Amino acid sequence: MFSANTYQSRRDQLKKDLGSGLVLFLGNNDLGMNYPGNTYHFRQDSSFLYFFGIDKPGLAAIIDIDANREILFGDDLSMEDIVWMGTMPSIKQLGAQVGVQETLQFRRLAGVVKNARKSGQSIHFLPPYRDANKLLLKDLLNIPLPKLKEAASVPLIRAVVDQRSVKSAEEIAEMERALRTTGHMHTAAMREAQIGTSEAALAGLVTGVAVAGGGNLSYPVILTTDGQILHNHHHHHTLEKGRLLLGDFGAETAMHYAGDITRTFPVDRKFTTKQREIYEIVLDAEVHAIATLKPGITYQSVHLEAALRMAEGLKKLGLMQGDMQEAVQLGAHALFFPHGLGHMIGLDVHDMEDLGEQYVGYDETVQRSTLFGTAYLRLARQLQPGFVLTVEPGLYFIPQLIDQWKRKKMFEQFINYPALKKYRDFGGIRIEDNVLITKDGHRVLGDPIPKTVADVEALRS
Ligand code: GLY
Ligand code: MN
Repeated sequence: MFSANTYQSRRDQLKKDLGSGLVLFLGNNDLGMNYPGNTYHFRQDSSFLYFFGIDKPGLAAIIDIDANREILFGDDLSMEDIVWMGTMPSIKQLGAQVGVQETLQFRRLAGVVKNARKSGQSIHFLPPYRDANKLLLKDLLNIPLPKLKEAASVPLIRAVVDQRSVKSAEEIAEMERALRTTGHMHTAAMREAQIGTSEAALAGLVTGVAVAGGGNLSYPVILTTDGQILHNHHHHHTLEKGRLLLGDFGAETAMHYAGDITRTFPVDRKFTTKQREIYEIVLDAEVHAIATLKPGITYQSVHLEAALRMAEGLKKLGLMQGDMQEAVQLGAHALFFPHGLGHMIGLDVHDMEDLGEQYVGYDETVQRSTLFGTAYLRLARQLQPGFVLTVEPGLYFIPQLIDQWKRKKMFEQFINYPALKKYRDFGGIRIEDNVLITKDGHRVLGDPIPKTVADVEALRS
C-alpha cells in the first residue's frame, strides 16, 4: 500500500475535477468457483485500489463532495471468520491507513445512498462489470440492470481516466517491480523449453515465478505453439521440433500493478531461415515503434507505421505485393496482423478497460477505425508523459482466416495467396514490451529480456 497521503491526494483531485455530487465506489467480493466457499483468487477492483488502496473483499466507499465527507463501509470480522480465515485490522484501522476517518457497517450504505437520492444529489458511479455489484447497484439506485452501464457517470469516468492514465513515480517503481518478475518468468521459460517439454509444465513454471514474486499473474498465461491464436489459453501441446513457442504472460505485484511481455522463440535452439525472416520483420516493427514514442504523437499513427513496416517486410518475402501504403490503408495487412499495436497498462493489464476504451484510448480527435484489425486498436490517442503502454506487433498465419479471405477473393492485388501455402503451419510471432512516455521521449520499463535473434539463441544454447 502507498502512504495515506497518496490516496488522500488522489481523492482530493477527484473532488476538484467533479466539483459536486456523491461518488460511490464498490469494491469486489469473493466469488465461488463451484460452490460459494470455494472461491476464485480474490482480486480487488482497480479503481477502488487506486482511490482507497484496501485489498480486501466486502468494502464500499463514498466521497460526498458536497458535504466534504469520505466514508468507508465494511464489517469487522466475526469470531467465526477469525477462526477459519485469521484476523485482520478493523475497518476503522484500514480506513486510517488510507486517510479515511469515517467508517460505517456495510448495511448502512443503502441508507446513505437513499438519503442522497432523496435530496436530489447526483450520484456518480463507474460501469460495473461483476454481477454481484450490478445487483447491488440496481438495488441501491433503482436502475434496471440493462440500463446500469449507460447510467454510469461519464464525468467520473473521465476524471478517473485522467488520473489513472498518468503514472506517478511510485507507480512506475511498482511497475518496474512487476516487470522484473515478468522478466524472470520469461527467461525461466526460455531456459527450460525443449523438445518434449509440455506447454503445461512451462505454464506452471511461469505461474510459480509470478506467485513467488509476491503477487500473481496479471492475466491468464498464453504459452503455446499455436501462437496464431491470439489469446490461446490452452496448454495441451508437447513442444515439437520445428515449432515456434509464443509466450505472452506477466506478473502483477502484491499491489496489483501489471507487467505484460511477449516473447517468441523456436523450440529448436536456433531459428530456421523461414522463422528468422518473419521474426526479424516483427522485431524491426517493434524496435522502430518504440523508438518513435514521445509525447504528442498519436498511438494510431504508431500502429499504422508498424503495420506498414511489417507489410513492406512481407512484400520483400513475396507474401504481399503492390502498394503497401494502399494495402495498409485498406486493411489488407490485417490478414497477418489482426490486432492493435498495444494498450495502456497499469493496475489492469488492459488498463481501465472496464471504464470503456472510448474514454481510455480514444478522444474527440481520434476516431476508431471500422476496418478489421485496426478496429481492435485499444489505444489510439495522443501520448502524454506518464502514460505506460505496451508495444506488441505480431505476424500470424491463421489457416482459417487465410482460407476465408482467399475464398472471398479479398485483397488479391495485395496478397500472394499461393505463396502462403508454405506458411499454413507456421504459427505466430508477437514481441511485446512495456514503455513509459517521458517528458521528451520514452523509457522501456524493466530489465532487458532477450529479443534479438542472437540474444534469444544465446540464452537457448
Ligand atoms: N497480454 C494480452 C493482451 O495484451 O491482450
Ligand atoms: Mn498486451
